[in-house]
Amino acid sequence: MKKMRPFSTLAAVVTSFSSTAVLAVDYERDIQPILKDHCFKCHSGPKAKRKVRYDNVRYFKEVIGTHEDAVVVPGDPERSKMYKLSSLPPTSTDAMPPPRRGEPLNSAEKALIRKWIEEGASFESKPEDAPSTTPTSEPDSNKVHTWSNTDGKTLEAAFVAATATMVTLRKEDGSEFNYPVAKLSAESRKLAADLAK
Ligand code: HEC
Repeated sequence: MKKMRPFSTLAAVVTSFSSTAVLAVDYERDIQPILKDHCFKCHSGPKAKRKVRYDNVRYFKEVIGTHEDAVVVPGDPERSKMYKLSSLPPTSTDAMPPPRRGEPLNSAEKALIRKWIEEGASFESKPEDAPSTTPTSEPDSNKVHTWSNTDGKTLEAAFVAATATMVTLRKEDGSEFNYPVAKLSAESRKLAADLAK
């Protein structure tokens, strides 16, 4: 059975979460520079190969999802061609960049792309010190979001439900707790409203 936590324990939850946290991948800061260095040459502008355009988020988003043309499946790097192809041995004919046509990604760059996809392939900018849990490939309903409160504290939790006054969130260990909407930052209030739709 899932245990409901009174929100008065959130402070303790926040502290214990932050201590195990690692930095979340930020698209603009971490991913875009990699794509720019290694992929833009052939994947930008209207003539982009296979219509995969990394130079423009609007077009990039069109190839993100679970549809046939998708090259990024949020939460699932192993099914994401963007990750699969760029982590092939550089001599493989399917490798991206194609053999001898560009600088292959190094292991740190591959790891960042993998983590970005695992974290949901989001374009939302994350605060410098936003913590994130160890990446998992859980279904979307288990997607972990970063929540912040009016004191500027953050925690990672999946969204369960929201009323006009309370949000119910689920921690990594599966336990659920309620938190007053009024104590959330404006950004997190908006996130809760969007997720409740
Ligand atoms: C020198 C040009 C070049 C560079 C650089 C390049 N690509 Fe490509 N890419 C191509 C071509 C050509 C195709 C089409 C391949 C085909 O049709 O088999 C392609 C196709 C793709 C596809 C779609 C595959 C499919 O089957 O739908 C993905 C994903 C991709 N590239 C990712 C990347 C990534 C990620 C990078 C950077 C790490 C990159 N590419 C760098 C030329 C390039």
